[in-house]
Amino acid sequence: CGIVGYIGGRTALPFLVDGLKRLEYRGYDSAGIATVGESGLELVRAKGKLHNLEEKLNGVAQSTGTVGIGHTRWATHGKPEEHNAHPHTDASGRLAVIQNGIIENYAELRLRLKERGCLFKSETDTEVIPHLIACRLAGHSLLEAVLAAVGELKGAFAIAVVSADFPDELVVVRQQAPLVIGFGAGENYFASDVPAIVSHTTRVLTLQDGECARLTRTEVQVHDFSGARLRRTPRSLNWNPSLVEKRGFRHFMLKEIHEQPGVIRDTLEDRIGDATGPIRLGLSNDLFADLERIYIIACGTSWHASLVGKYLIEELAGIATEVNYASEFRYCPPPLNPRTLVIGVSQSGETGDTNAALTAAKARGVRLLGITNRPESSLGALVGELIDTRAGMEIGVAATKTFTAQLVAFYLLALHLAHLRGTQPGERIREILIGLQQLPAQIEGILDTQERYITELAREFDATRDFIFIGRGLNYPIALEGALKLKEISYIHAEGYPAGEMKHGPIALLDSEVPVVAIAVPGKVYEKTLSNAQEAKARDARLIGVAPLDEPAAVETFDQILPVPVVEEILSPILTVVPLQLLAYHIAARRGLDVDQPRNLAKSVTVE
Ligand code: G6P
Repeated sequence: CGIVGYIGGRTALPFLVDGLKRLEYRGYDSAGIATVGESGLELVRAKGKLHNLEEKLNGVAQSTGTVGIGHTRWATHGKPEEHNAHPHTDASGRLAVIQNGIIENYAELRLRLKERGCLFKSETDTEVIPHLIACRLAGHSLLEAVLAAVGELKGAFAIAVVSADFPDELVVVRQQAPLVIGFGAGENYFASDVPAIVSHTTRVLTLQDGECARLTRTEVQVHDFSGARLRRTPRSLNWNPSLVEKRGFRHFMLKEIHEQPGVIRDTLEDRIGDATGPIRLGLSNDLFADLERIYIIACGTSWHASLVGKYLIEELAGIATEVNYASEFRYCPPPLNPRTLVIGVSQSGETGDTNAALTAAKARGVRLLGITNRPESSLGALVGELIDTRAGMEIGVAATKTFTAQLVAFYLLALHLAHLRGTQPGERIREILIGLQQLPAQIEGILDTQERYITELAREFDATRDFIFIGRGLNYPIALEGALKLKEISYIHAEGYPAGEMKHGPIALLDSEVPVVAIAVPGKVYEKTLSNAQEAKARDARLIGVAPLDEPAAVETFDQILPVPVVEEILSPILTVVPLQLLAYHIAARRGLDVDQPRNLAKSVTVE
């Protein structure tokens, strides 16, 4: 979910609507706004995407209130219906609350409040909060009442409260869900993430867990949950606003696919120099001393990048590495000791599962490293040491440039470990570094030559319902990623398999209606992968290869080739993923789907 708020001298509504638009990637199944003005609290909510709320707002007399909060929802408790949309109000209808997160003990609180006569209008966990606050208001300030209510809540949440009885303030609370405050001139703001406020101010303060703030037009007071005042200083954001604009591309996803060469250059820049010196990641050597084992924790696309990372670390540095789904790691924790390094990988830095798993690992005394493009995120604050992938903000819900940047970070880390442990000769490390430096130009080549071809190819899958992606070795995770991209944005059923495993089950699904995409690049597993592709062809499957164009064996095997330049196999994942991103994009765009905001997904899932 995304939350946003304004208090100042101007009408709050335009700020709130614009802020919600910029947060819509965080959830978009319903949205709502509450403002406080002369006529008291005004609430407008709508099911579905933000334009439904905008239409509804156009149909009513526009609020002139100068204080307000807004919410865009990714449903957890209760269907995406208008009555479940935030803000939620108390019985008087004068106090409104928005929340991002989950109130785990809401059922028990709801029961207790019902016994006291409170009527509930939604199925959400959030609705208990305005009632709890209202019960505590008599004789207290808004902040005191909010803190008393928060004392009863269990879970991870960011909350914001506005009240017609306190028209000159907003109260916000953070407990394990992101919340950033922005400082303006005669006005102040808050939001789940900086894109919502960055066009108004670059002076921001990221609230920490266990902190709350009272915002007035001229002041921001930060307190802990006991009410004690804290001294916090805002920082200046170094932010490039073009990251959150489409700049002529039809969708953010396409723009971000095209940003990949630049991102890789940034990720490498100043870290490898001319590839003859050490790799400069800015990490302390203590992190790696006497290291026994590595666990990588991630979700979704970041989990796929981590699978490539495991391969690289084991191959180049010889350290046993396991990749875990964050949501599984926390509750099935493996044996850990102080010689274990746990790496958390996340493009948003706010994924609830990943941060909860890292917190649990931290409590067990392991060393922690983060890999993210959002060093200022909650993950950044949690881990002591961090590799900033420098991919910046990504808006398209389907991750693309953040994925390739994570891959580059893993190459650098694996080579750095190889150097520290002496597992690879300097010459070998240099070879790979030089190969990495050539990737941006090679991706530019793929984007220049294949965009049109893939757009045409996409037409042929108008009626396709299932896709299979296969790959081996370090291109197996790329097969998984190709399938995930396609299913996320086109809603076509797609599965990725290790090519050699297809014959042990998935092959039963194949016929002329099910295209198979095989990643086959020269190297250790090239011939074997081509044989696996042939097995699919013998079952009438249409075969598409991500392969070099001038390789006779590939030309012979595949019905169509999405060509990639020949590089050393170890570097190939960064190239092979690009045609798969384009294929998924063009199939979905052709179907007229909302590529940047696919149904049911959110860019940043802050609940466990
Ligand atoms: C969500 C997004 C995915 C992303 C996953 C992990 O489900 O829709 O695109 O891969 O979260 O996110 P993270 O921010 O931790 O990389």
